[in-house]
Formats: sequence, C-alpha cells, structure tokens
Amino acid sequence: MTDKYPFSDDFTEKIRLFLTKFEESGGNRGGNTGNNDNNDVEENIYFKDGKSVDEKLTEFLDGIAKTVEILTEKGESKEVILRNYTDCGEFLLNTSGSGFYADVQIQKINDSITLYCFQTPGGGSIYLFDTSGGIVMVDTGYGIYADDAKRMFKYYGLDISRLKFIIVTHADSDHCGAGGAYDVPAYMHPGTLEIIRCGNRAWGSIHESSTLEKVYTTMIAYFSHWNPSKEKNIRLFPENSIEKIGNFENLGTLPVGDIKINVLLSDGGHQFGQLILYSEDANLLFTADTLMNFTSFDASRRNYNSIADFLVTSVNVDSELARKERKSAVALALEHEAKTGRKCLICGGHGTISTLNSEGKPETLGSVEHYTPKL
Ligand SMILES: [Fe+2]
Repeated sequence: MTDKYPFSDDFTEKIRLFLTKFEESGGNRGGNTGNNDNNDVEENIYFKDGKSVDEKLTEFLDGIAKTVEILTEKGESKEVILRNYTDCGEFLLNTSGSGFYADVQIQKINDSITLYCFQTPGGGSIYLFDTSGGIVMVDTGYGIYADDAKRMFKYYGLDISRLKFIIVTHADSDHCGAGGAYDVPAYMHPGTLEIIRCGNRAWGSIHESSTLEKVYTTMIAYFSHWNPSKEKNIRLFPENSIEKIGNFENLGTLPVGDIKINVLLSDGGHQFGQLILYSEDANLLFTADTLMNFTSFDASRRNYNSIADFLVTSVNVDSELARKERKSAVALALEHEAKTGRKCLICGGHGTISTLNSEGKPETLGSVEHYTPKL
C-alpha cells in the first residue's frame, strides 16, 4: 500500500477498520433492522456491488489519494488532509453506542402534537412529531446512530413502532442515512433518490463532476454506516411546481396529525432536491441545511462540521444559490410573522429550534436538555 499511496500503513489500517465496522453494521443491507437478506442487497442502492472489504479499501484509497492531490495543490498539507479522514471516522465511532449523546428540545405545537428536536453528536438533527395518530419523523440522522436514537426515543416515551412516515429533507447521510432502520414510507424529492442511488452528493449541481464531492460522499457513507430507506419505501414528491409560497415552489402538502405541512423546493444551493417544510397553521419552518442557528452548535459539533467543509471546500454544492435560498427562507419566516402576528419556529437541519430576533438572526427557543444513554 505504502508504495502506491502517500499514506502510512497506520493510516491505511485505520481506514480498513472503519470499512470493517461499516460491513459489520450491515453495510447498507438492513443491518439495523435485522433484515439481512438478499432482497435488501438487491433493492438497496449504492454499495450493492458485493465487493470485499479489500476491494472497497483499494477503491477508497484511490479516492483519498486524489483528494490529497487536489487539496495539496490548493495549499493544504497532506498530514492535515489525512487527519480529517481519521478524525471523522473516529468521531463517529466514539460518539455512537456508549459515547452517544444528544441535545433535546420538546416543543408543544398544539393540544395533540408535540415536536421533539434531537441534536445528535455529529450531523443533522432528528425531528419527531408525536401526534395522537402516530409519529412522523423529519430526517433520520446518521445510520451509525440508529440504535442509539431508538433507545433515546424510548427514554422520552416515544414508541417508535407508532412511526407513520419519514420526510427526508435531502440526500446527505446525516439526514437520510438511517432510513433503512425504519420500515415505513420515506417521502423525498426525486433528486434526493437520484443522489442516494448514485452516491454523489453534488449530483444535479454545477459541481457534479467534482472528485472531492464524490470521494466525500463515499467516505461519509462508510464512516456513518449508510443505511438509507429501502427503495420499496420511497415515495416521491413532484419534481417541480408552478405554484409558489414565498420564493419557493410548493410541491404539495402532507398532513401531520391535525396540521398541514407544505413541501417546498429549495434552490438547490446546499444540495439538489433539498426540501423546506412550512406549516402556516403550526408556525413551523424546517429549513434543512439552508438556514441554521450556528450559534447553538457546541465546540465539538463545530469542530466536526469543519471536516466536511475542509474536505469538499464548501458543504454547499452552489454557494451563490445557497445564499439566495437562505435569504428566501428568512424572508418567508418574516412574511409569516407579518401575516399571522405569530413567531415562526425555525427548525434547522442542524442545531436548535430557534426564532428570528430583531436582527433576523436565529435564537434558541426555550430550554435544551442534554441526553446521555442510560446503558
Ligand atoms: Fe447536514
């Protein structure tokens, strides 16, 4: 290995360990559900190639070598680049199982609906609507946290067998990578399914051919135990719509308990097909990775998020569009407040549920409690 690649044996062995852990998790073959049969392999999405760990390792190391080449040309040091890979893998292993934790907000929406926001250690927040008619999930978090999340839901008295469906805001593994752990319909944009199938988070964007994006998507899928919803469970929204809410196309509505959620299409600045969810009656705006309360991130989450920023140079596949959609999301929240006279709850893809302050900046709503597993 060392002759071919600019890595030490030690580095190679660490990467092999992360890949082995991925294989042990079920490796996108329904490991979290216990349905480890061939049908799952067939219908499930990328990595369905049946390659051995060694073959996967060789391909992945080729990709890392290309990343090293590209980023060193941009002036980064090889050591720092490689450390970002090992830091990412180690962080995810160390923060799952007994090392798992979450920051939790519980928000009463009305007499029959309570919204839970679970900020996992790394990656996106998992939202659960607890309604009298069942539970609805918005984003699943990483596959590696699926068992930890289920344990946490139970601790909060949430019976996940009551889960009716999942809404997936976008195809990044921290938002959809645990879908396979739940045998329920998962609603998403057709572009999200394409990205899940092809394993390139920049699909459909100006950076579609970026090697950095492709290698990053592979890395995070392995390290976070990628296990998206089975294709039989995937339900697609229309690709586009001529009807708009604010600056966003309105793709349709979904009922959640007794409230109505409008499913809006973002401009694709963070990722093609990313959805924004808006409920005028419940004062809710799920902004995915378009608008977040960065001040609510603790140091460890900030540090972890910087890995993706470093390895793909920007987590937004189109920074200009990302700026535009962020402004549109803020404008929609402000329009809501002007129209209804009620504060709009910004539920970002990461960080806390927040409201906009007088300067239009998100501020955490209510109290946040820290959860650790009672193992
Ligand atoms: Fe994210």
